[in-house]
Amino acid sequence: MTDLRGDLVRIDRERLWDTLMELKEIGAYDDEATGLRGVRRLALTDADAEARRRCVAWMVEAGLEVRVDRIGNVYATRPGRDRSLPCVLMGSHIDTVATGGAFDGTLGVLGGIEVMRALNDAGIETLRDVEVAFFTEEEGVRFGTDMLGSAVTAGRIPLDHAHKLTDAEGKTVEEELVRIGFDGPEPELRPVPYAYIECHIEQGPILADAGVDIGIVEGVQSISWQRLTIHGEAAHAGTTPIVSRHDAGLVAASVVVELRRMCDSGDFGQLRATVGSFDIGEGQTNVIPQRAVITIDLRNPDDTLMSAAERHLAAYVAELATQHGVEVAWERMAKTAMVPFDRGIQEVLSTTADDLGLPYVRAMSGAGHDAQEIAATCPTAMVFVAGEHGGISHTPREYSDPAACGNGTDVLANAVLRLANQP
Ligand code: GLV
Ligand code: MN
Ligand code: MN
Repeated sequence: MTDLRGDLVRIDRERLWDTLMELKEIGAYDDEATGLRGVRRLALTDADAEARRRCVAWMVEAGLEVRVDRIGNVYATRPGRDRSLPCVLMGSHIDTVATGGAFDGTLGVLGGIEVMRALNDAGIETLRDVEVAFFTEEEGVRFGTDMLGSAVTAGRIPLDHAHKLTDAEGKTVEEELVRIGFDGPEPELRPVPYAYIECHIEQGPILADAGVDIGIVEGVQSISWQRLTIHGEAAHAGTTPIVSRHDAGLVAASVVVELRRMCDSGDFGQLRATVGSFDIGEGQTNVIPQRAVITIDLRNPDDTLMSAAERHLAAYVAELATQHGVEVAWERMAKTAMVPFDRGIQEVLSTTADDLGLPYVRAMSGAGHDAQEIAATCPTAMVFVAGEHGGISHTPREYSDPAACGNGTDVLANAVLRLANQP
């Protein structure tokens, strides 16, 4: 490996920060729970479309060649000297959850654009093309499947299946891509990159606890998303004897409690379980709920223990259904195994952080990322950036300071530069 010392590129921290602050105004809303201004920019909404157009404008201003594929992923290329060589790719997402902040995903995209600007400013040519991407519907909040655009480009989810996914109002991904003008002509299976690096906020407490700005990510834990629909029977709250009830709400609530017990038991390793959506229909004070629909998000760094947790849950729900005389239906929304990242790319990142004099820790990712999909196509790893308030995220309280964002993007820039000059 070449020693980078003395040959380090530095990004413009103020320009990166200004760009982050500008994008956060698109889809901004007043969050009642926190009293803060948050970001609500669900995939393929008007806000997402505006943010996409703003990013494309920045890409064009940086002299990049922009292209859009059939799932709406956007790629921008800075040509290298040998265009026949596979590119080095950076990227992430600009869609947010409904209660999002300014950094989740956007740091990797705007950081990638800033890397391009910094290379331009320094007049640096690279051997390979360098590209920056943003992928469609990473959050999965609107159409129910996370990492959608990157999973399609990596070939795990067929384009046709992705196009037909619907939101709560029945609008399809395809219709919405067409409506916002991001149904691009490029094939969804993109040319295989030489390497992929994603810079992302950590969204957890590991880096802050270690007192460092930077994390080198070793992999992403397994993720399982399911929707459970429980069909009970509506009846009068005052007259129906307790033993005669088929209470869909009670069954749903029991699942929530059992999930927490499973996490606390230690039987499933480091299992994390969340019921983030709990719908009991009309919500009438004096009517036993007839139907309940909940989502179940399971995370586990161990695939075997994840399977054990899913089996246990299925058996528990089946028994509960018999006990309460209700019908249940499961729907698989998403499932990914634990993804280990490439050791060679991790090595480039750690050497780069050393050369920049930036302390770091190694960490597994608790959150899902586009990198876990792209990892199936080329050597991939991630740089994490520390967040404040214990790294809290998916809330407007999400915050990473300008120095941390700048440090993470410096690591990204120099690691990408090193890889882009490898023959
Ligand atoms: C992505 O934000 C996830 O759900 O992990
Ligand atoms: Mn993200
Ligand atoms: Mn997120």
